[in-house]
Amino acid sequence: MSRLDKTPNRTSRKTTRRSFIARTAASAGLAATTLPHKVSARVLGANDRIGFGMIGCGGEGNALMGLVKQLRDAGTKVEIVAVCDIYRPRLSKAAKLHAAKAYDDHRELLADANVDAVGIATPDHIHGGQVINAVRAGKHVYCEKPVTHWRQFELTKQMAAEVRKSGCVFQLGTQYMSDSAWHQARKLIAEGLIGKPLHAECGFFRIGDWGERGMPIDDANAQPGPDLNWEAFLGDAPKRPFDVSRFFRWRMYEDYSGGPVTDLYPHAITQAIYMLGVTFPSLATAIGGKMRYEEREVPDTFHMLVDYPEKVALTMVGTQGSDHACAPARPPSRAPIIRGWEGTLTFEGEEIVFTPGPGNKTHPAKRIRIERPFDHVRHMANFLECCRTGQPPYCPVDLAYHVQTALQMATLAMRAGKTAKFDRAQEAIVI
Ligand SMILES: NC(=O)c1ccc[n+]([C@@H]2O[C@H](COP(=O)([O-])OP(=O)(O)OC[C@H]3O[C@@H](n4cnc5c(N)ncnc54)[C@H](O)[C@@H]3O)[C@@H](O)[C@H]2O)c1
Repeated sequence: MSRLDKTPNRTSRKTTRRSFIARTAASAGLAATTLPHKVSARVLGANDRIGFGMIGCGGEGNALMGLVKQLRDAGTKVEIVAVCDIYRPRLSKAAKLHAAKAYDDHRELLADANVDAVGIATPDHIHGGQVINAVRAGKHVYCEKPVTHWRQFELTKQMAAEVRKSGCVFQLGTQYMSDSAWHQARKLIAEGLIGKPLHAECGFFRIGDWGERGMPIDDANAQPGPDLNWEAFLGDAPKRPFDVSRFFRWRMYEDYSGGPVTDLYPHAITQAIYMLGVTFPSLATAIGGKMRYEEREVPDTFHMLVDYPEKVALTMVGTQGSDHACAPARPPSRAPIIRGWEGTLTFEGEEIVFTPGPGNKTHPAKRIRIERPFDHVRHMANFLECCRTGQPPYCPVDLAYHVQTALQMATLAMRAGKTAKFDRAQEAIVI
């Protein structure tokens, strides 16, 4: 049996403005573990081999290494040269599988001159500090979603600034952004097909995933020590004694995860925010809770409303308690519906469908063929290509930052039972 902590009442962990500022200050104080030096990214020519380092060798880290290997086998000049994990059994397995150098501290991997680009697939609350360290060391970054944890707004802001300043390539691991539907639709919207955009309706529904009840525990007797660095796992999260369930099943705990809002919704609202071309919200509010999986801390159901200053709203509803998507699906769940003054865009099968509004005499109804569906391998290939060309990848850092701001505002609003506002002048969340 796993040792799950007693689930705290949601309101008992209410985030007040004071506690939020205190916590974000603590997260900004990652300085103790960040690298001070700045190194420029190595300029990669078309024929240079990209040395890839993987930080975090759990489920997704192994999946990303599989993509890199697939590309390498198909002729891309890339090699997995180094791997890092703070849990020795996973580290040793990955190092052996890829004949790569093993590091138990990501800062040592970043100091390896053979590493040009890194993948980051550690738990959510660890990403931000590792991204900062990576770009300071001159490494290009493919970072898993969510880009940071829900309580780390200041860190997210700092990370975006550091990536911009570094000139390194940054791709967020929202692989559904490799679907050309969103890129084609963004262009159609910018050209005025739907008139002034008004509303994006998004949804994410699924059930039965292992993350909902708990991820597998590799070793029920695991203990901190030379083979498991509990301090490094905790990062800036509250200091707690070692708990085997927290370590292996971190997704169930609010110190390290946020539930569907941060775990799954980056896969659904990134497309909408990108198509609309909006950045920081003006307001966000949300409701949610545990409607099916009582054994965890984080909600399984979360519904959010976001307003943008461009007079466009985004609604995102979803649950991990049912997988009925109730609108045309497009991986990973329900495709967004984009409404404008002059018409609506939906995504059906291989087509973008334009339905004109009743008074629209300019643009008749039409269906536009989607050039390419989503492809996880292409998302990684796009990252590697951008490391050579310097072009912006499918999901660059500012898009990741803007998406995460909306998700963080909604999470804080839900926890406080309030509406979160965004202060543009201060670039700060106010709740
Ligand atoms: N894009 C996708 O579809 C997708 C799918 C699954 C997971 N993810 C994301 O990938 C990330 C990892 O998820 P997962 O399911 O692989 O989790 P996991 O627990 O299987 O793997 C995380 C690994 O990170 C290691 N780790 C923890 N702290 C570390 C540190 N400070 N330095 C180095 N290693 C550390 C752990 O030991 C573990 O092996 C999460 O952010 C998750 O949201 C994305």
